[in-house]
Amino acid sequence: MTVPWKSAEWNLVFRVLPRAHRGLAAAWWAFVAVRALLPGVLIIATGALIGAVSAGRPASWPLAIVAASSVLILVLSPIQNSLSANLGSFVGEDLHERLLRAAIQPAGIAHLEEPALANEFTLARDFDLGITAPPTRVCMPFVANGLVEAGSGLTAAAILFWFQWWAPLILVGGWLATHRLLRESAVWREWQSQDVAASQRHADYAYRMAVDVPAAKELRLFGLSGWTVSRFGTYRRRLLELSLEALRMRERSLIWAALAALVANGLVVGAVAVSALAHHVSLGSFVVFIGAVTGAAVLGIADFDWWFDTAARPAVVVASLERQMPAFAELASGTATAAGLPQREIRLRDVTFSYRGGSPVLSGVDLTIRAGSSLAIVGQNGAGKTTLAKLLCRLYDPTGGHIEVDGIDLRDLDLASWRSRLTTVFQDYIRYDLSLRDNVAPAGASDADVAWALRQAGAAGLTSDGTVLSKSYAGGTDLSGGQWQRVALARAMCAVRQGAGVVILDEPTAQLDVRGEAEIFRRLLDATSGVTTILVSHRFSTVRHADCICVLEGGRVVELGSHDELMADGGRYATMFTLQAARFSADAASGTGPAR
Ligand SMILES: Nc1ncnc2c1ncn2[C@@H]1O[C@H](COP(=O)(O)OP(=O)(O)OP(=O)(O)O)[C@@H](O)[C@H]1O
Ligand SMILES: [Mg+2]
Repeated sequence: MTVPWKSAEWNLVFRVLPRAHRGLAAAWWAFVAVRALLPGVLIIATGALIGAVSAGRPASWPLAIVAASSVLILVLSPIQNSLSANLGSFVGEDLHERLLRAAIQPAGIAHLEEPALANEFTLARDFDLGITAPPTRVCMPFVANGLVEAGSGLTAAAILFWFQWWAPLILVGGWLATHRLLRESAVWREWQSQDVAASQRHADYAYRMAVDVPAAKELRLFGLSGWTVSRFGTYRRRLLELSLEALRMRERSLIWAALAALVANGLVVGAVAVSALAHHVSLGSFVVFIGAVTGAAVLGIADFDWWFDTAARPAVVVASLERQMPAFAELASGTATAAGLPQREIRLRDVTFSYRGGSPVLSGVDLTIRAGSSLAIVGQNGAGKTTLAKLLCRLYDPTGGHIEVDGIDLRDLDLASWRSRLTTVFQDYIRYDLSLRDNVAPAGASDADVAWALRQAGAAGLTSDGTVLSKSYAGGTDLSGGQWQRVALARAMCAVRQGAGVVILDEPTAQLDVRGEAEIFRRLLDATSGVTTILVSHRFSTVRHADCICVLEGGRVVELGSHDELMADGGRYATMFTLQAARFSADAASGTGPAR
């Protein structure tokens, strides 16, 4: 049932606020309580003042109370608004922190690729930016004022107990009925529907295309500026339509809401008037009771619900994501230490894998990688090479079969301990908005190790110390694609220097010029001698140097052997190698430059 006091809203005011800042939350509640009582005090004091004046009694006390409560009503409101905004900022910070923890908690990455969670992640990530809804710091003053209005309305109605016991019940009932009827518009349920969340996500995506640097080039060159703006407009309009639709539904209930309020107020005011005319209540009491009826009218304010709900929603979404994360904790860590592994081999036994809800990417892969040797994996786009690399890092578990390190199932190894044995350069490696040094050793390393790694990768002296490798920072700079790739390689080399025993390189030299590639690969082999190296590459000039080469096709290993063996076999590898070598010779002869 959609009632003003849903558990999400209670959760906000009683759990989320104190958790964000205990002291501010206590002060915030104190303000709400005092401000809720003040209008009642003013009504009673006004009645007392008029009663005293009309009876010729001294009126200084009631007058002082009227003056003090009037001033306090005016003064406390802006103070609480600032308090609310600050508290809202603390809530935002707390929720973002919880969201980060929840997103990072699973050892794998499947939760970030789950379409069912994508809307919730967008809502939870953006709630403080004001794209999907007003930020919490904007909502909180309205929530405070709403609670004050609800409290002062109830206080005012309670005063009517002095008139007739049934009067406050009728009045509160009438106003709450309007509330209930207005909320029946279901604007709040609409607001939380998948339709709304999806529209917000699409609008947000279009917005980011326009303001984020990576998309800026293509947007202009492919003439997508108009498309982006109209896409943003379309989805924002859809959001407005949804809220207008809800508003129209609300209009339909408006007549019933007005009727309920009119009848309740008519009954109470009528009864007060009749009693006054019959001299059953004094002038002072008459003023108090009529003031109380008027004061109770704030109970009918419906906007409050919207703000309350909007402020409460992010906490609900974050809590929902927190609850769902354990379902993605299928990558439970084992207990065996991976220190010094592999000594003998890494072995894939009949490994099968499919992404959630997808068809098999790998099926029945059997492969042995001798410790200290290098294995190159080749195959067409989409053959499953990167997927295999992800399985070796245990970002996913195989859906069938086993990966063993010296006979121990990867699932039985302590996950952190295994990952500390690995270093990787993925195809989509990260370009950290940090200095060159920190890009090479994000988790820290000695100056000597960093300098060595940079030299090995041919990336020494790319920038001065402390220059951030991003143009989004004052004094920052950016690198070319190939220079970035050298930095990523330096990161892997630095990790090897620090003791990593398995290196996984997914297209590590794709962006390097041919001379640079040959030079770096030679250094890489030097640096990783004795380290188990798995190299994914489309460049056969690089691949041929590996101890063993595996050709992956249709999710299976179709050829396995050294360069010479595979060339002698005359199979797929030999065909691909010959094709690339022929292309290279042709390009070199015609002077059109190197081929990949
Ligand atoms: N996160 C994912 N969720 C669902 N399917 C995926 C995901 N990542 C990859 N795939 C699918 O798995 C298959 C293998 O992808 P993978 O990235 O392993 O190929 P690859 O051999 O590395 O290709 P490339 O040479 O282009 O890098 C592809 O069909 C791809 O569409
Ligand atoms: Mg790949």
